[in-house]
Amino acid sequence: MPLRETIDRYLDTVQGASPARGFVPLQGRFLWVMLDVAERCNLECSHCAFVGWRNEMEANEIISEEMIGRIDREVLPYTSRATLSTFHEPLVAPSRLFMLLEACRRRQVSFVDMTTNGLLLTEKVARDLMVSGINLINFSVDGASEQTYQHVRVGGTFAQFKEKLELAVRIRREMGAREKVRFRFTCCMMRSNVHEAEDLVRLAIENEIDWVELRIAMKADNVPMATDELLCFCPERADEAFAKARALADRHGLRLDVPPSSEEIRASNRPRPRYTNCMYPWYNAVITAKGEIFSCCMWHGSDRLEEMRSQPFEKAWNGDAFRRLRREMETGTLSRKGCQDCAVHFNMADPRYWKTYEFIRGEDMLGGSGPA
Ligand SMILES: C[S@@+](CC[C@H](N)C(=O)[O-])C[C@H]1O[C@@H](n2cnc3c(N)ncnc32)[C@H](O)[C@@H]1O
Ligand code: SF4
Ligand code: SF4
Repeated sequence: MPLRETIDRYLDTVQGASPARGFVPLQGRFLWVMLDVAERCNLECSHCAFVGWRNEMEANEIISEEMIGRIDREVLPYTSRATLSTFHEPLVAPSRLFMLLEACRRRQVSFVDMTTNGLLLTEKVARDLMVSGINLINFSVDGASEQTYQHVRVGGTFAQFKEKLELAVRIRREMGAREKVRFRFTCCMMRSNVHEAEDLVRLAIENEIDWVELRIAMKADNVPMATDELLCFCPERADEAFAKARALADRHGLRLDVPPSSEEIRASNRPRPRYTNCMYPWYNAVITAKGEIFSCCMWHGSDRLEEMRSQPFEKAWNGDAFRRLRREMETGTLSRKGCQDCAVHFNMADPRYWKTYEFIRGEDMLGGSGPA
């Protein structure tokens, strides 16, 4: 019998679904915590999987000082990595962001990062960030021209982005902080902007950016982005653009992450085992400004897993919902639609991979089996 099947059988039959299973003690520094300081944003990006959810929830919340105090005492002592933005924009509430950064510093969290659209940056915020203990700032930028940037980043302008980027780079240089605070570009690539991948790399090189991530945009069912924007519908275009970006980055020794080429995707098209491969519920907690808890940043919408408003984090972390999810992961019997449809289970050559954000309303956006 193949090893994987033997493991599955062992988990199903010997351990069964005992409630004690799935318990993960809060001990040591094992947690990766993702937090939002606010449920707000200054933009309404056309691809953003979270805009519709934000409106749907009428969210406008800012994390309370009390919640920050509780995260400080109940979560950060076990945290090795804290990411201070997840679904929304961290710079809409800078004073709360700095309270969290200070707590991370005092608790000696070893890696702290955040992702921002950068447009609300001020000179003071940039200076304070350089001495805050943050290790990595991801600037989201999805176009290297005014037209393309604004097509995706609705409500922002490329001119504003460049101004704020130059501000951040200047302050980092003046404060001699390049070794301490790394800058990365995070670029969501789709049909209408992938031709600017090389220009984004050039922009990074010109602005002392340390690292560029070209990632694929996924289609959520509640956003204006057209379905045929997905790169799975224009593989040759993506291959060509990524190859040019790679060549330029290599010439300048820039660290670049790109999605696999269509040939690599085809070559990796092997069936995956029933076993789910997802370990997030064992070490990842996404905590919203209201204290709601998700098991990862792929899972969102109003279907939260747990909450820490009415109970200590420790209780939530090992509450029924988390333990059930972990048991389900072990036995490959996922009951939550968010987890069933999630990209982590599928090979990129599998049409189901591209449907990962369908679960908010459960619509079949790509129709039938989707791209071949
Ligand atoms: C939700 S934003 C929150 C932080 C901040 N507002 C920003 O834009 O950087 C975090 C990252 O998720 C990315 N993102 C949003 N929707 C996405 C999608 N449908 N597919 C892939 N990445 C997405 C954004 O481009 C951004 O880099
Ligand atoms: S991607 Fe970021 S900036 Fe754009 S709408 Fe979403 S949270 Fe806001
Ligand atoms: S299966 Fe997907 S949605 Fe579920 S916990 Fe893992 S990464 Fe998150």
